Amino acid sequence: MEIRGALTLRKRQVLIFFVLLGLSETGPESVRYSVAEEKEIGSFVANLARDLGLGVGELSSREARIVSDDNEKHLHLNLLTGDLLLNERLDREELCGSTEPCVLHFQVLLQNPLKFFLVELHIKDINDHSPTFLDKEILLKISESTTLGTKFLMESAQDLDIGSNSLQNYTISPNSHFSVKVQDSGDGEIYPELVLDRMLDHEKEPELRLTLVALDGGSPPRSGTTSVLIEVLDINDNAPKFPQKLYEVQVLEDTAIGSWIITTLAKDLDAGNYGKISYIFFHASEDIRKTFEINSTSGEVHLRSSLDFEAIQSYTINIQATDGGGLSEKCTLLIKVLDVNDNAPEVTMSSITNRVPENSPQTLVAVFSIRDQDSGDNGRMVCSIQDDLPFILKPTLKNFFTLVTEKALDREMRDKYSITITVTDMGTPRLKTEHNITVLVSDVNDNAPAFTQTSYTLFIPENNSPALHIGSVSATDRDAGANAQITYSLLQPQDPSLPLDSLVSINADNGHLFALRALDFEALQAFEFLVGVTDHGSPALSSQALVRVQVLDANDNVPFVLYPLQNGSAPCTELVPRAAEPGYLVSKVVAVDSDSGQNAWLSYQLLKATEPGLFSVWAHNGEVRTARLLSERDAAKHRLLLLVRDNGEPPLSASVTLHVLLVDGFSQPYLPLPEAAAEAAQTDPLTVYLVIALASVSSLFLFSVLAFIAVRLCRRGRSGLVGGCSVPEGHFPGHLVDVSGTGTLSQSYQYEVCLMGGMGTDEFKFLQPIIPSLPVHDTGRNIEENENFRNSSGFNVQYKV
Ligand SMILES: *[C@@H]1O[C@H](CO)[C@@H](O)[C@H](O)[C@H]1NC(C)=O
Ligand SMILES: *[C@@H]1O[C@H](CO)[C@@H](O)[C@H](O)[C@H]1NC(C)=O
Ligand SMILES: *[C@@H]1O[C@H](CO)[C@@H](O)[C@H](O)[C@H]1NC(C)=O
Ligand SMILES: *[C@@H]1O[C@H](CO)[C@@H](O)[C@H](O)[C@H]1NC(C)=O
Repeated sequence: MEIRGALTLRKRQVLIFFVLLGLSETGPESVRYSVAEEKEIGSFVANLARDLGLGVGELSSREARIVSDDNEKHLHLNLLTGDLLLNERLDREELCGSTEPCVLHFQVLLQNPLKFFLVELHIKDINDHSPTFLDKEILLKISESTTLGTKFLMESAQDLDIGSNSLQNYTISPNSHFSVKVQDSGDGEIYPELVLDRMLDHEKEPELRLTLVALDGGSPPRSGTTSVLIEVLDINDNAPKFPQKLYEVQVLEDTAIGSWIITTLAKDLDAGNYGKISYIFFHASEDIRKTFEINSTSGEVHLRSSLDFEAIQSYTINIQATDGGGLSEKCTLLIKVLDVNDNAPEVTMSSITNRVPENSPQTLVAVFSIRDQDSGDNGRMVCSIQDDLPFILKPTLKNFFTLVTEKALDREMRDKYSITITVTDMGTPRLKTEHNITVLVSDVNDNAPAFTQTSYTLFIPENNSPALHIGSVSATDRDAGANAQITYSLLQPQDPSLPLDSLVSINADNGHLFALRALDFEALQAFEFLVGVTDHGSPALSSQALVRVQVLDANDNVPFVLYPLQNGSAPCTELVPRAAEPGYLVSKVVAVDSDSGQNAWLSYQLLKATEPGLFSVWAHNGEVRTARLLSERDAAKHRLLLLVRDNGEPPLSASVTLHVLLVDGFSQPYLPLPEAAAEAAQTDPLTVYLVIALASVSSLFLFSVLAFIAVRLCRRGRSGLVGGCSVPEGHFPGHLVDVSGTGTLSQSYQYEVCLMGGMGTDEFKFLQPIIPSLPVHDTGRNIEENENFRNSSGFNVQYKV
């Protein structure tokens, strides 16, 4: 910068305003004037006429003119008055700059005679300019570590004025750090220097704004200012600082991964890179680094993997904050994990019995322990099973339990229990664990097999095929397995004479009963025995039932004709007197049927007769009577074919041939001819012999009857019977005769037929009546009870020949 107007004070004192008058003998006369700059146009400078010694009017007459060096009309000459006036504002700085003294040269020309004068006009400076700085603002960057007394050269200001009006001093706005020192550059110019008086602190005042003032020496002085911005440059003089040495935070263990936990923000007063902090976990364990992460720029701590209170309850983490300059600081972060009820109770079965025998109280079923990994209420547990089960839980040690049966179990009532052990903790929310145990009740042979009925009655038609399935007995056993496997058997009958083993057999497995042989109703009508059933338990249990077998009668017996004998070579021949009245009892066919009931109801019928209409047969009792009076014309010999039929389904029948001989009187004895009977019906040539034979037989018969009656009369004189030995009596219920094997042959039809044989022939035998063996209500004289015979043969009608 150029400092102008470097006039010495002494020179300026010499250039005081004066007018030098006088003419130079050798050269043109010159006058000097001085005028301050910046005067108004028209301002009076001097009276030139007077100064040059010219008279008034001479100037105009001599045509005075002012000629300047630079042909500028700075001045105006009043020709009338001779006054020299300013024709324009004179600016010293414009005309002369920093040149001093500033002089304008003029010539005043006069004619008639030509004459010129020199005029020097000194232009005096006034303080019309203020000091100015080139820059409105000056930026200074000063490190805060700058030492005291350090000087900072500042740009100088400029003032166009010169001399004392020029720049004289610098000052600075009041501040605590800087003062200004004015320095002389040696060539008259001065410049300011900022001097650091007090240490700067970036952290306190990162920048300062000062005003530098330049002052000139005018009166009054003028000033110019510039603004100085001082940026205090930071140095890394501050380590990062945590607001707290220890951070404590509580985190629920179920906090989601990635959750924000805390921000440990350190502060560094330094700026820029020195204030940039990065965070790390300092010497962190593997656990910590696995579980947490810290954002190196923001200091936020986040959860990286899930927490587990049960594994680690707290973490102590050292966090180091480091700034860009390498300064660091630590703090401690204590993270406490809070328990959350995140663990359900656990049940650990130590031993378990899946099969419990019935009938045994206080049996150990299971031993188990329970556990909850949570703490506090979250880990307190309650253990229970269903109420309605015959089992109880018994705590043994802490968290150890046994499950025992409360009372004896009954497998037959319930053979399986599903026990749910429920363990609930007291946390919020409550967590529970269920463990199911299935207990099977094993069987004990505590139930005897039982027959479905206490007695069974089976009906078997006689003449069954052998091995016929006649029925079943059935038993059940409420136990299970072998205890329920049952075997049927026949028990020995109470009656030792019953040959049970040959009659029936039983299938041991299913209780089916079979007849071993064909049964004969006539031999055995009913029998009973016991069947037993035994299970396979140990010890085995058994029970028994009565089986009663009824043999059903079948019409399997043909009526058997007792009289007259049918197989004899000398058949019976009835003798009938020709004088017999109608209804005369010729004979009575006697037949029996071993069957019973309807099968034994017999009816008689005349099938064929030599002379139909002569004889009639009573259907129900077999009596053969004459139907009309006999006459001489009737043949002497008659042959009647009778049919005896039972009422079975289908009916069975037997035929009887009856020979009747008509005789004129019982006086004529007839001796039967053996061959006559056989051949009677066959050939006509034999008729004669037959007649003879019949006659003889009839007579013999008559004789026999008479003799027999006589004998009977003698024997039964006491009984008062008048008739012969054949005594039909009582009523008859129908046309049938019941000769059932049960001995119910009506007593009215009990006959004693006595044929007293004479003549030494075998054909006539003493025939005893047919007597039922079972209770006979009346006489019972001729009944010979023979139990053995009855039982073994099955015939309950006995007869004796
Ligand atoms: C400059 O100004 C200061 C303060 O105003 C003053 O103390 C000092 O004397 C001045 N210097 C000169 C040379 O006038
Ligand atoms: C760290 O935090 C900053 C600011 O919150 C974020 O912009 C940046 O992505 C984060 N860095 C990581 C690795 O998360
Ligand atoms: C246990 O049994 C109960 C009832 O039978 C059933 O609801 C439950 O699901 C079972 N629990 C398990 C774990 O099998
Ligand atoms: C006739 O039958 C009866 C009874 O069955 C018997 O006792 C008798 O010997 C038989 N007579 C002849 C000759 O066959």
